[in-house]
Amino acid sequence: MQAVVLVGGQGSRLRPITYDVPKPMVPLRNRPFISYMVDFLRSGGVDRAVLSMGYLPDPIQEYFEKQKMDGFELDYVVEDRPLGTAGGLKNAQSALDGGPVVVTNGDVLTGMRLESLIEAHRESGALATIALTSVEDPTAYGLVEVDHNMKVHRFVEKPAYDEISTSLINAGIYVLEPEVLEMIPAGKEVSIEREIFPRLQQSGRLYAYVSSSYWKDIGTPRSYLTASQDVLSGAIAGGEDFDYRESHPSIEVGKSVKILPPFSIERDCVLENGCTVGGRTALGRGCRIGEEAVVEGSILFDGVRVEPGAIIRGSIVGPNVRIGHRAIVRGLAVLGAECVIGEGNVLDQGIRVNPRVNLPPRSLRF
Ligand code: GTP
Repeated sequence: MQAVVLVGGQGSRLRPITYDVPKPMVPLRNRPFISYMVDFLRSGGVDRAVLSMGYLPDPIQEYFEKQKMDGFELDYVVEDRPLGTAGGLKNAQSALDGGPVVVTNGDVLTGMRLESLIEAHRESGALATIALTSVEDPTAYGLVEVDHNMKVHRFVEKPAYDEISTSLINAGIYVLEPEVLEMIPAGKEVSIEREIFPRLQQSGRLYAYVSSSYWKDIGTPRSYLTASQDVLSGAIAGGEDFDYRESHPSIEVGKSVKILPPFSIERDCVLENGCTVGGRTALGRGCRIGEEAVVEGSILFDGVRVEPGAIIRGSIVGPNVRIGHRAIVRGLAVLGAECVIGEGNVLDQGIRVNPRVNLPPRSLRF
């Protein structure tokens, strides 16, 4: 089986992180997200994939060029302007073999059984099968209504509360027959969700497969941070009582340091005396956590420096950020690459700080 992974989007909801790091490369337990997608495809019997790229393609390609792929074949196509989800798929067509294809959004983390989706597709004789997942608050998504045979009979885009007729949403994973690619005009911006699926639904050949496995798209700061915490606590593998306690042997740990599980600490990190790190935290390569500083429930990208006494809770800190003495970063703050947060600032309430901003000492409080 072959696959196309759509990774060309700008990831605007995950800015300012995605100004520097493309969404497929953001780390989960210190591995780029896209590596989980490749594992998912392999586990379902897929042995080759085409990455449909656009925005910031180089870091993704460079990452895979250094990996051992053990027989999994990867091809890359790069569009010179955004073609949307169907346009990006069409652009990958010349690298495909003319048979059915698994298509996935490049930002979903799931424990779904891909083989079962492929099997359901084969059995129904559909032109396309969409995987569905159920979410608690579907108002931010497009709902998919199905009949008792799992045939899709209606899409409801971003419903109001009184329009919610199902909790099932498009999980961003499909199996398509080659005829579907023929329906997409070449060289144009086309959305598979809004333009191609409604046409397939009208022809009666669009089916669904419902999965109750773990599923999360990592497209917003909240969902990305939750996905990171879930991965650290083993949720995607279905093991509820499992905590990762990973630290590279090269890390330096001072006196009276508290490391609370689950955690993932990459090579060359330094934890100075009396600091506290963990509680579903991932520290990227070469982070330094100062004396008595606290880092909990957060993601720190590579090279972050946290000065003594600073506190970081439930936040996302981009590469090479510096957080000053006794500064507080909490409440899903998102800090872009290389910014400097001066001493004593307090960042809270989902604040986003653009890359390379230099915030003078004590200039911001909530
Ligand atoms: P937002 O800007 O935050 O909405 O994120 P996004 O750009 O990733 O868009 P969205 O989450 O809607 O995209 C779903 C999937 O399709 C993601 O994996 C994107 O990388 C991918 N995608 C979106 N637009 C394009 C495109 O124009 N070309 C290609 N090749 N992929 C795309």
